[in-house]
Amino acid sequence: PRTMIEPFRIKSVEPIRMTSPQERLEMLQTAKLNVFKLRAEDVLLDWLTDSGTGAMSSAQWGAIMVGDESYAGARSFFRLEAVLKDITGMAHFVPTHQGRAAEKVLFTAVCKQGDLVPNNCHFDTTRANLEYNGVEAVDLVIPEGLQPSLIHPFKGNIDLVRVEEVLKKEGHRIPFGMITVTNNTGGGQPVSMANLRAYAALLKKYGKPLIMDVCRFAENAMFIKLREPGYENTPIKAICQEMFSYADGCTMSAKKDGMVNIGGFIMLRSDEWLDPVRNMLILTEGFPTYGGLAGRDLEALAVGLEEGMQEDYLRYRLRTAEYLGEKLEAAGVGFVKPTGGHAVYIDAKTVLPDMPVSQYPAWALCNALYLEGGIRGVEIGSVMFGKHLDDGSETYHSMELVRLAFPRRMYTQSHFDFAAEVIAEVKAKAREIRGVKIVKQSKYLRHFTAEMAWA
Ligand code: F0G
Repeated sequence: PRTMIEPFRIKSVEPIRMTSPQERLEMLQTAKLNVFKLRAEDVLLDWLTDSGTGAMSSAQWGAIMVGDESYAGARSFFRLEAVLKDITGMAHFVPTHQGRAAEKVLFTAVCKQGDLVPNNCHFDTTRANLEYNGVEAVDLVIPEGLQPSLIHPFKGNIDLVRVEEVLKKEGHRIPFGMITVTNNTGGGQPVSMANLRAYAALLKKYGKPLIMDVCRFAENAMFIKLREPGYENTPIKAICQEMFSYADGCTMSAKKDGMVNIGGFIMLRSDEWLDPVRNMLILTEGFPTYGGLAGRDLEALAVGLEEGMQEDYLRYRLRTAEYLGEKLEAAGVGFVKPTGGHAVYIDAKTVLPDMPVSQYPAWALCNALYLEGGIRGVEIGSVMFGKHLDDGSETYHSMELVRLAFPRRMYTQSHFDFAAEVIAEVKAKAREIRGVKIVKQSKYLRHFTAEMAWA
């Protein structure tokens, strides 16, 4: 049989609620035409993010009961530490409550005003935490990574030629290089092993350590297995171990491939930065053996990391996004190709080619998906990345995308079939979709709280 099934059965269920089109219109209007302001229970398929939203396994729920809640030296810390040392080969484990806390602790301890950090693409919180410390965050993804419809196996790769230019010119400002696997901001696209290896060697030549942002390391490893010659028969864990072998440290939001609802960490190979990092941790997160988490959270993560590397799970996971992509292709809806690991990024300009960007087509499409089928995605376009300048003018983003990000092990194939039908119906009725205008906005990260009206 060629159907790829969900490699699990369901033991605990949570109802989702179907609403009427009239109810959805009223709720969206109450939410000022901003899906962030909806109540989650009024959403049918919640694809706002894959972060912390997935289903835990019965083994994880079981592990929760044996969590050791001791303040210092808890057994759960040592259990998770052993798992992480095995996967990463790094000696020092620093738990944090989520990814951005790991970023804040590391950057505050290690970076200084005027520094520069290259990356394929910095995630927003990574960029914000660097900039908050006075550090310049430079995105150097390969040019292919910025063209939505162009097919390339590793669109998350970093441009090594441009990295070397920066190392030559700005080396004295660079405390370390970063790379994000998979590249979330660039469409959830993977980085190849060859690129990681060469980037690490290049940094080493200039005496710089490599810090990886590894939220989706297991999905990246599966892409390597499927796409990079020489890895077809390598077990996923061995691929992960090789990926980590090129890093001197990493930050992780465990809310993604850690398969948990909360958690994060820093791993460091040498003890050079350990004292300042631990001091900052104690100041802002907690004692070094829990770092802002409960003992039960550490237990759930120890189990989740191993489950997240299971090959049949990862095959199904990547296939899910690809499957929705195939249905969108058939409906004539454009999206970032090939599909990434955790999400599908719809190109709103292919659905609403005549809508001016001043009416925010990706935002309008996001609203239309909710109105038509109760689906919640997130706009990655000119509301998120455009700016309202002091002279009253507006800047716009180069792309108008709607990201549908999939919580792990939560939605089944029929949910995806339903979503594909909704998207096709929205495309067929595209002429009726109304653009929006911003009525109220904040200066930073305006998409979260903006109030809109129909244009
Ligand atoms: N790095 C990457 C690549 C991320 O995707 C995220 C979060 C973080 C760091 C920060 O981790 O949320 O645990 O503090 N991404 C989520 C998303 C929020 O929806 O893509 P966090």
